[in-house]
Amino acid sequence: MQQIVIQGGKSLKGKVRISGSKNAALPILAATILTDKKNIIRNVPKLRDIDTFCRLLTSLGTKIKKETNKKVSADCSNISNLEAPYDLVKTMRASFLVMGPLLARFGEAKVSLPGGCAIGARPINLHLKGFQSMGAKIKIKDGYVLAKAKHLKGAKIYFDQPTVTGTENLMLAAVLAKGTSLIENAAKEPEVVDLAKVLIKMGANIKGAGTDTIKIVGVAHLKGFDHNIIPDRIETGTFMIAAALTNGEIKILNCIPGNVKALIVKLQSAGVEITTKDNSLFVKGKHSIKPVNLVTSPYPGFPTDMQAQFMVLMTMAKGTSIISETIFENRFMHIAELKRMGADISIEGHTAMVKGAKKLSGAPVMATDLRASACLILAGLAAKGKTTISRVYHLDRGYEKIEEKFSALGASIKRISNH
Ligand code: EPZ
Repeated sequence: MQQIVIQGGKSLKGKVRISGSKNAALPILAATILTDKKNIIRNVPKLRDIDTFCRLLTSLGTKIKKETNKKVSADCSNISNLEAPYDLVKTMRASFLVMGPLLARFGEAKVSLPGGCAIGARPINLHLKGFQSMGAKIKIKDGYVLAKAKHLKGAKIYFDQPTVTGTENLMLAAVLAKGTSLIENAAKEPEVVDLAKVLIKMGANIKGAGTDTIKIVGVAHLKGFDHNIIPDRIETGTFMIAAALTNGEIKILNCIPGNVKALIVKLQSAGVEITTKDNSLFVKGKHSIKPVNLVTSPYPGFPTDMQAQFMVLMTMAKGTSIISETIFENRFMHIAELKRMGADISIEGHTAMVKGAKKLSGAPVMATDLRASACLILAGLAAKGKTTISRVYHLDRGYEKIEEKFSALGASIKRISNH
């Protein structure tokens, strides 16, 4: 088992370069299924989830080539298998994104139900309802979704609530459907917009990505693409908070400040100094942090993926802050670990009350999910003394070389293997 060990209390100073976005790369890898031409994807982060998705595409018959400079080429001209097996889908729910493109191009797909995960039940009912409205016959059998459609037809799809991969899955289905589709109450995340950019490069007819209504007029076939993945806004936010809570000064390169606006506003209300340029941010921590209340919501609101990290900062604010998690039903698991480090946090349903002005002290803690593991790293950096984080495999799903990036900023952080 690997662990990450941190000696806290160092002020982080210097520059960090943000990697490509995991949550943009995954749907874009799924888009390669839509064409029999070759595709090039650049700035692909080196992450376990990306490897899992590439393994899944290979199992379908895709020829994948990962080159050293973060470039991945994918050729889906010989897809022979239309089944995404349980052992792959269970390790990464986003595998379900192959359903839309397989249905669109081959009229058939058999994908394991993704099941829930630590942060919630993670249903996919909205995905399935969308496919059915496009004429797909859906059956659930032995834990798999069996979907069939002679030829998907354009439809009007309304999402009861915005779903990121639901919006992406239906876009991937609609681009080759017969006729026009309208996706209403669509997710507006930058990763949805990046996928739309790729589909348009492939020859798709899409308007409105990034707004709550996306209009797609189906086309007969799509060509290959060459695309540079956008930077990861959650990694960006993680380093912004690292500067704020270690009273440091970090220049964040290769990022898109416009994609982290909600976090910038909240950090500035907490008294953190932030200046932005076209593709970089400068964040200067402050001795005293002000308490700030927070409610997570779909983009462009405050991202649920940043809630745990922001909570660490609030443990040191001069006062009490109220943090509400509205997206996932079980996304407070990091609180028990933070309390073991001395944080004073109480939970009422989906709301946490964080009593600040606490100096965290290092302790052995356990990661429970991807973003909670990032929050524990931040807590270890801010805490007095040594923090040992176990189950770091969660971290490796979504952060590329995180301990190298933090140690380059002056953190005392290392990965150890203990048997
Ligand atoms: C995406 O998950 C992200 N994953 C998540 O990031 C992120 O936390 C989430 O969006 C919210 O922003 C990827 O993009 C690969 P949703 P997704 O469908 O699409 C409910 C990370 O750390 N819902 O937008 O699965 C659902 O229960 C991960 O990188 C239904 O009820 O999330 C939730 O309450 C964690 N039925 C809400 O919608 C459905 O069919 C939003 O979920 C689909 C969703």
